[in-house]
Amino acid sequence: MPEIGTMINVRGLKRSFKTPKGVIEAVKNISFEVKRREIVGFLGPNGAGKSTVLKMLCTLLRPSDGEASIAGFDLLRDAKQVRRHIGYVSQSGSTSPEARAGDEIVWHAQLYGIDRNEAKERGKHLFDVLDLEGQWEQKCGSLSGGQRRRLDIAMGLIHQPELIFLDEPSTGLDPQSRANLWDHIRKLREDFDTTIFLTTHYMDEADALCDRLLIIDHGEIVGRGEAKTLKSQVAGDNIKLTLRDNRDTQKAALCSESIAIAQPIISGNLVQIMVKDGAASLPKLAAALNEGGVEAIGIEVSQPTLNDVFLSLTGRSLRD
Ligand SMILES: Nc1ncnc2c1ncn2[C@@H]1O[C@H](COP(=O)(O)OP(=O)(O)OP(=O)(O)O)[C@@H](O)[C@H]1O
Ligand SMILES: [Mg+2]
Repeated sequence: MPEIGTMINVRGLKRSFKTPKGVIEAVKNISFEVKRREIVGFLGPNGAGKSTVLKMLCTLLRPSDGEASIAGFDLLRDAKQVRRHIGYVSQSGSTSPEARAGDEIVWHAQLYGIDRNEAKERGKHLFDVLDLEGQWEQKCGSLSGGQRRRLDIAMGLIHQPELIFLDEPSTGLDPQSRANLWDHIRKLREDFDTTIFLTTHYMDEADALCDRLLIIDHGEIVGRGEAKTLKSQVAGDNIKLTLRDNRDTQKAALCSESIAIAQPIISGNLVQIMVKDGAASLPKLAAALNEGGVEAIGIEVSQPTLNDVFLSLTGRSLRD
């Protein structure tokens, strides 16, 4: 039995697709829990299975196997109740360009049996919260990308769900609009106690916004926990060397032999060296480069990122 504070409880969820090329196992035996009021990020590369999981949890796609309870209701036996308690914002959005923003939200509310006046009142309040004041009469097609994404989120919240699923809320937005959207998402929890489950393939989004992460790859959860805990599990720091002459890269790699804890990665005139302790290794490396006659024009030490976490878990970069 899930405990009272549990908003999502997923056990052994699977989904495969039959295609002309054979069966794709998009989601393989996934289990996890999300607590009330948590902001949890589902982080993974393109095609990892994020949207498929989300669609199953929103009752839009039937699992091939496994079970889940959402807001206390069984996903399969009580799909209607699940739908009533959740909001879903799809990856592609759902507003039509010719409709006015205010009308879209009122119509959407009416789908949930909310009457017109109540819908208007709630809609206007959400427009305030999401910084869309003044856009009520605007056609959706004339809103900026960030405004349209916030309108999608307002639509997902109009029936006051306890839990909202956001599929890649900030994809396609410029950095400023993304940071702004993150503030709005945090505010939803403050103002409405909403639990938020979002997918992303942006490491900075996962880092900045989420209390906890589930990292998914090839349909499986490969890592889970707070971003800082995950990062602390990656042994070592990164040293990035920029060389004046890219013919020196092999020599530079040799110079790092005594401090490197993994094979250095070379690309162009860059050499990336993983070391146990960045600060302690730097003078040793500088001395070795000097002795070897290798001239570095840049040297940068960085702590592990979520990409390094992914790399250490899967042997591949999240960006690939
Ligand atoms: N309806 C479908 N029919 C066949 N294959 C599908 C279907 N939906 C998804 N897939 C496949 O399942 C896998 C997971 O897709 P999914 O959309 O869940 O990935 P994602 O993590 O959301 O990726 P993205 O970051 O690109 O949105 C992919 O290989 C995809 O091609
Ligand atoms: Mg997707």
